[in-house]
Amino acid sequence: MAITKEDRFSCSVHLSDDGRSVVILDQTQLPNRQEYLTLDTLEALCEAIRRLAVRGAPAIGICAGYGMYVLALREETEDPAVFTAAMEQKGAVLAAARPTAVNLKWAVERMLGIVRGSAGCSAAEIKEKLYRECIAIHNEDIEMCTRISEYGLSLVKPGDGILTHCNAGPLATSKYGTAIGPVLLGKERGIDFHVFSDETRPLLQGARLTSYELQRAGVDVTLICDNMASIVMKNGWVQACFVGCDRIAANGDFANKIGTSGVAILAKYYGIPFYTLGPTSTIDMDCPTGADIKIEQRDPDEIRTMWYREPMALPEVKCYNPAFDVTDHTLLTAIVTDRGIVYPPFDVNLKKLFA
Ligand code: MRU
Repeated sequence: MAITKEDRFSCSVHLSDDGRSVVILDQTQLPNRQEYLTLDTLEALCEAIRRLAVRGAPAIGICAGYGMYVLALREETEDPAVFTAAMEQKGAVLAAARPTAVNLKWAVERMLGIVRGSAGCSAAEIKEKLYRECIAIHNEDIEMCTRISEYGLSLVKPGDGILTHCNAGPLATSKYGTAIGPVLLGKERGIDFHVFSDETRPLLQGARLTSYELQRAGVDVTLICDNMASIVMKNGWVQACFVGCDRIAANGDFANKIGTSGVAILAKYYGIPFYTLGPTSTIDMDCPTGADIKIEQRDPDEIRTMWYREPMALPEVKCYNPAFDVTDHTLLTAIVTDRGIVYPPFDVNLKKLFA
């Protein structure tokens, strides 16, 4: 099925009109500027992923699918063996651009699976198959986000206060998003919620992206600093926490934007249900526990100087800047996936999901 123009623009990633490049909405420029970048080299794709011009686990996966196709188009060889070797090499580099979100590796592997399974095909035939696969990855994400949003919506009541952390809306995925999906789907059906969006230091995805998406969609959203989550919970203003995920381990531990585990601990203290919402492509059954998830460390200047007119710390001051943390599965009420809501015991029930 082709991606419609409406679908293309409900996602921050799509193929260019001539089908030879990946076009992304540069998320680093939001909310002040809507700028699109055209990517058609391995270096440009990796750089865009590394500097978070494209970000959010599913959007990175969609970008990687399109990216692998675009890179395949640039291979001029007619020899399938040379073509396959080149794609393996480029896939390995692309998959390593960011380590934590499993969707990147998942999408690259899925595209490489097409290449590996095409023995006897010409390079042109493999490229055609790769085109169909990257479109399928995007279409499936649209469907998965829609189903996740439906399941998530069943967990809350009209008028509820929902707290979210980082950005797991349409910019980070497609269509409705994951954590934000129930809110946007509800809005479409005339069901209103009140959202508290953590600003999400140090890169401010909550301020720059989540409050932007929700405000634009006409949702009642309040932006708070990360250290205000406790008071809004204590005030009784939050009935559920909805967050995204970058990798879910087989035991239900999951990595998400730094600060998520703190929100989960607070939610437990105040007796508020805490959900992570994500597609099955984010579940990594080869990863036994959260301790096995590699956490990306980022540039200390994101803490010291970024977003400020003047540096907010001495240049030589030591910083610790992990991009993600792992939330222990014991803090999770349920995992909301496109295949249903998974409750504890997660080790048993996640296995059943894939059975
Ligand atoms: O570093 P980022 O901005 O890519 O981190 C993203 C998050 O942690 C999101 O919450 C996560 O990818 C879920 S996106 C649906």
